[in-house]
Amino acid sequence: MERRPDLILANVQLPEGRRADITIHDGRVIHAGASTAAERRIDCTGFFILPAAVDMHVHMRGGIQSAKEDWESGSKSAIAGGVTVVVDQPNTIPPLTTPETFAARVKEAREHSSCSFAINSGVTPGTPIEAMWEAGTMAFGEIFFAPSSYGEALGKAEFSHALERIQALGGLATVHAEGIGSGKDTGLAAHDTLRSPEREQEAVIAVQSANRKGCRLHFCHLSAAESVDAAQGSVEVTPHHLFLSREMTGDADCRFKVNPPVRSERERTGLWERWNRIDVIASDHAPHTNEEKTLPFPDAPSGIPGVETMVPLLMAKVLEKQISLSDVIQKTSSAPAALIGIPPSGFAPGSRADFALYPRSVTRVNPDLLHSRCGWSPFEGFHAIFPRTVILGGSMAYHDGEFFRSTPVWYPGKGLSLHPH
Ligand code: DOR
Ligand code: ZN
Repeated sequence: MERRPDLILANVQLPEGRRADITIHDGRVIHAGASTAAERRIDCTGFFILPAAVDMHVHMRGGIQSAKEDWESGSKSAIAGGVTVVVDQPNTIPPLTTPETFAARVKEAREHSSCSFAINSGVTPGTPIEAMWEAGTMAFGEIFFAPSSYGEALGKAEFSHALERIQALGGLATVHAEGIGSGKDTGLAAHDTLRSPEREQEAVIAVQSANRKGCRLHFCHLSAAESVDAAQGSVEVTPHHLFLSREMTGDADCRFKVNPPVRSERERTGLWERWNRIDVIASDHAPHTNEEKTLPFPDAPSGIPGVETMVPLLMAKVLEKQISLSDVIQKTSSAPAALIGIPPSGFAPGSRADFALYPRSVTRVNPDLLHSRCGWSPFEGFHAIFPRTVILGGSMAYHDGEFFRSTPVWYPGKGLSLHPH
């Protein structure tokens, strides 16, 4: 006897307006239209149903940084925020700059992650770029053009050489473009001046001029309108640069300390004016403990957690009719999947069956209900819509605050050598 399909998402309102039942089997959408019977049926009437998000910029920590976060807590935070695929950044301790540390990271994620994942390679002067590619690196970077928390920067000549090698492999270079002035880092305004929007723009231009062979460039977390305007490559922006400005809190509030900095209200508005130029929204989820964030400003580490609140903050804006649902799907799911080259999630037959269901009512961010180990959020009290149900690979990974076993996968990059020497 033929097996019944695994799952039907019934009464789905498709982005183009039509209603359909989505039939899912073996992790893929097999039919969109009328349905018959399945092992499980979820009625989606009254919900927004979205292809789940791919967050292409997270720092899942782990190892000696596990008090901040690890794969177990960080991936649950992702799932509870409607994110089923994360791309982990290589500025871990130890950094992912050798095939051995890379392989250990994949193993750690395979054992502990509740969400699917890809892992990037660090790029330092000594990194064996070709060997990292063969080990299954998704993309290269974030490559630091200025030092940041746990990030070693490359000079212009080194940058140029690294981009040439990445280009020869057909890889994607993801860039942390910043410049740092001199002076004291005494508070949010000073931090914004030290790592100013002008310096960010200059770094974008410098990276582009160092890119002599035309490597594919992705600019991580651009924080200012002028750098978005200067960028020739894909543009990523974070929720903290879209939703926070330094005027919203006290100057000494280390929770808002991040690189690139949270800017002025004027810059924040300018970023929203570039909405159509933003290719990808990614969280730059960079958790630090409460304790670290209460250190004096110059000593506190930079970074803001956000993988769980990214889509919920955007969904509140959708319900409030300030942005469109299709833009949210494009910038949080379709575009990042295409950039890193993994199968898209969506409603068409053949699509990866990762989805999230959001109710049509707004709540507020309550840090006590979030799953990151760091235990705080700068978005406390902000309007948000959290998913009720999250589907990963065609099975239920999360429902009403509860997690279920599903089958997360590792997405290696295209260079993975199937016959290691
Ligand atoms: O503020 C930041 N924190 N910026 C980065 O680029 C790295 C990140 C971290 O890992 O904490
Ligand atoms: Zn960065």
